[in-house]
Amino acid sequence: MMDSSNACFDWASHFYDYTRAIPDELMNQTIVALRERIEICPGDKLLDIGIGTGRLAIPISEKLNVDLIGIDISEKMLQKCRKKVNPLKNVCLIVADGLALPFTNNQFNLVFTSHVLHLLSDPFQIIRNITHLLTKNGYYANLDAYVNYHKTIPFKIYYNKLSESGYRHIVRGNLIRQEITIFLSKRGWFYHKLKINGQKEMILNDIVKFIRDRVFSHQRAITEDFHQQSLKFLYQELETRSIDLSEKVIVPATSHITLFQRHVKTSN
Ligand SMILES: C[S@@+](CC[C@H](N)C(=O)[O-])C[C@H]1O[C@@H](n2cnc3c(N)ncnc32)[C@H](O)[C@@H]1O
Repeated sequence: MMDSSNACFDWASHFYDYTRAIPDELMNQTIVALRERIEICPGDKLLDIGIGTGRLAIPISEKLNVDLIGIDISEKMLQKCRKKVNPLKNVCLIVADGLALPFTNNQFNLVFTSHVLHLLSDPFQIIRNITHLLTKNGYYANLDAYVNYHKTIPFKIYYNKLSESGYRHIVRGNLIRQEITIFLSKRGWFYHKLKINGQKEMILNDIVKFIRDRVFSHQRAITEDFHQQSLKFLYQELETRSIDLSEKVIVPATSHITLFQRHVKTSN
């Protein structure tokens, strides 16, 4: 569970898109995968809970040709999102809490959550709400699309040093995906899981700057002392290993789609 100051992403709005951008090819494959599996009509409604800067929802809603309603508790993230909206599209962005959604039941054909459930005190409350908000044949998709910086040498060195102080880096995404799948399948929902792999070319020094600037929310839970000690160790280690920070590295990127539907149409 995060405290509310971390959950509201005002603190990240100015660097969020730069640090979280996934490669275009992975984005395109994600959209194609959704389009192949979702029966949706132009003008249908997509709700994204915790839309942030619209990193995923804006391109996806445009390609699926659906109306987009995005909510977020961060006004600053929504400001970034507004700048990306095509004025010819139906998009409505609202500051609201996913745990107290201002909508009536049965009105969305598609609901998205992406990298938001782990920030909530009770993720299942949102899942329960979603089941009411969806139309009879509506879909719920949890999307996790990220570049796996944690697999790079600088992050490994940094976390190894932190682990000496008792810190353990826990990847919550996998757990949450499993938990919501169990929760909804027990209630009779059908699901389809899909993993798409990609990669992103990065300059090593940019990854080190991400660590230095604590751009990931879990890093904010690390005390300043431990962060500085681990950062110092990281710089020393990079020098000892003669690692050239101007070097380009290929970082794995992944898109996980978990698509849920209450009713699956049978062929006859
Ligand atoms: C990690 S960002 C993900 C943004 C976007 N979904 C994406 O994948 O790029 C999490 C977003 O959820 C928002 N958020 C956190 N708690 C929320 C809540 N209770 N209701 C609505 N939005 C919330 C944050 O402000 C932030 O913009």
